[in-house]
Amino acid sequence: MKRYPGKRVLITGAGSGLGRALSIEFAKLGWNVGVAEIHPGRADECCEIVNGSGGKALKIICDVSRLEDIEAAGRLIEEKWGGLDIVINNAGVSCGGYMEDIPMEKWEWVIGINLMSVIYGCRTFIPMLKKQRSGHIVNVASYFGFFPPPESATYNMTKAGVISLSETLRTELSPHNIGVSVVMPSFFKTNLMDQLYMTDSIQVNKVKKMFEKAKFTSEKVAQITLRSIDKNRLHILPQLDAKAVWVLKRISPRFLFWANSLLYRYHIVERILGLEY
Ligand SMILES: NC(=O)c1ccc[n+]([C@@H]2O[C@H](COP(=O)([O-])OP(=O)(O)OC[C@H]3O[C@@H](n4cnc5c(N)ncnc54)[C@H](O)[C@@H]3O)[C@@H](O)[C@H]2O)c1
Repeated sequence: MKRYPGKRVLITGAGSGLGRALSIEFAKLGWNVGVAEIHPGRADECCEIVNGSGGKALKIICDVSRLEDIEAAGRLIEEKWGGLDIVINNAGVSCGGYMEDIPMEKWEWVIGINLMSVIYGCRTFIPMLKKQRSGHIVNVASYFGFFPPPESATYNMTKAGVISLSETLRTELSPHNIGVSVVMPSFFKTNLMDQLYMTDSIQVNKVKKMFEKAKFTSEKVAQITLRSIDKNRLHILPQLDAKAVWVLKRISPRFLFWANSLLYRYHIVERILGLEY
């Protein structure tokens, strides 16, 4: 982090879960933290914690799925800070179900928040970082982006898009001294399930049960993310299960998809979780 003496970070979806945990970690290091959030109450709470933990918060109420909101955030940051060191495109929602049953407005909703927001964030801040010839972009994806479970096409597809965009930019921005990382966690405890949309209640119960069983915390994911930014890592896989699947997909993708189909066809995950199917 010594590369960035200006200590200016913008975090989207900073009011809860991983975004909030990242805000606190940066605050502890004395950074200026742009708290970008759609819920004013969550934003206020996070700003208070940031200011009380050694950082300096800049509250930005915005809807990340609207380009004009992100561009307004860019103008505010230019005016208040004169530049930016790290941008973290973190805000996201969870959505899934049977491909043919997911209403089109839900596709548009999840693509807007999980994918378009990352495009808007990169598009808005890259010119600023290029002008400075320094900076780092962190995009939050998920291991579902490279290991796609069934009945989750909307979410998986947006996260795969975020991984591909990040990998493309890693090379494209390297001549400009701009680093790019993509975070690909498996389940960890947050408020992500609050806005969960699925096409049937069996799917909702399954996802919620898997979420409940998660041992990892957002604090741990945030700490690993900060260490990985420091090391300029492209792929950030905080948990062991995500790392194992990542390696397995490279060794034998055929086996991985065969095993995934078997688990699905015989409802093995539901049986293990003691759920009806
Ligand atoms: N929790 C997990 O198990 C998990 C696993 C893999 C990836 N992720 C990813 O981590 C990221 C953070 O999620 P989280 O688990 O901390 O969830 P969370 O719901 O606790 O936090 C997400 C925050 O984003 C905000 N937000 C939602 N829509 C927004 C919008 N349109 N504009 C601005 N802010 C908006 C929410 O208000 C919330 O404060 C997401 O991209 C998610 O897909 C989470």
